[in-house]
Amino acid sequence: MPSRVLVTGGTGTLGRQVVPRLQAAGCDVRVLSRHPHEAADGIEYVTGDLLKDEGIQAAVDGAGIIVHCAGGRKGDDEATRNLVRAASRAGAPHLVYISVIGADRIPVVSATDRAMFGYFASKLAAERVVADSGLPWTTLRAAQFHDLSLMVARQMAKLPVIPVPAGVRFQPVDTGEVAARLVELALGTPAGLVPDMGGPRVYRMADLLRGYLRARGQRRVLVPVWLPGKAARAVRAGANLAPQQAVGHRTWEDFLADRVLNEA
Ligand SMILES: NC(=O)c1ccc[n+]([C@@H]2O[C@H](COP(=O)([O-])OP(=O)(O)OC[C@H]3O[C@@H](n4cnc5c(N)ncnc54)[C@H](OP(=O)(O)O)[C@@H]3O)[C@@H](O)[C@H]2O)c1
Repeated sequence: MPSRVLVTGGTGTLGRQVVPRLQAAGCDVRVLSRHPHEAADGIEYVTGDLLKDEGIQAAVDGAGIIVHCAGGRKGDDEATRNLVRAASRAGAPHLVYISVIGADRIPVVSATDRAMFGYFASKLAAERVVADSGLPWTTLRAAQFHDLSLMVARQMAKLPVIPVPAGVRFQPVDTGEVAARLVELALGTPAGLVPDMGGPRVYRMADLLRGYLRARGQRRVLVPVWLPGKAARAVRAGANLAPQQAVGHRTWEDFLADRVLNEA
């Protein structure tokens, strides 16, 4: 049923793809952003900051559904706690959260783990905040988005010799497909933790990079590096993958064909 939906992170890579899909489903969409935006294309913007706990109440008031896509490298637990507090004051909106595959399986124990994989611990902590919120909730764990793989590949390709974590694999998924799934979940009955969403294929990190370099016509030397720590060991064992949930359709190669081959 159409409703007013708040999208946190509606200006981000994922959120930008969630917003038009909600509108197409007949929803009134409000976006929370740290920066002021003029209302445009039927989208209402509220300025606020989840980490500074500013402007959140105005963003959640009147929203029947919250699709929580705002996130950063750290602090998602704190941001989510602030969002939940305001949402609980506003009523009982359906809170839909996007997490990451492996949040519950990658042990972040030592300072080394935290430095490289602290993101997973903060996603798990945020998941718990959502589950314990008392609000109706749905959480989807997704694999790494193609857009993020592309950003990483572009950065790494600037180096003449590229260090590549040995034994690390990814199962990248199309951001638009994740957005479509989130909208389906948001408009459905609150479902708790739903099955993971992985991309169609698992790749060694070196092969993801080689695919990018091939699409760009570039040549680089790749050098395997061994990452220390328990979290890295879990990742090498595939804790960030969900091969039994390879439900995404668009492959890395298809994505590269659209995004890289057409670049100047
Ligand atoms: N990227 C991946 O591969 C991946 C995989 C699985 C799950 N996820 C999760 O998906 C979500 C979206 O990721 P993304 O790649 O779309 O991120 P992104 O492109 O970096 O966008 C981040 C968004 O969060 C908002 N934001 C950041 N800090 C905020 C704060 N303190 N208060 C309010 N808004 C804030 C930003 O809005 P403004 O800049 O406008 O304020 C922006 O819209 C994240 O929760 C991420 O953990 C990502």
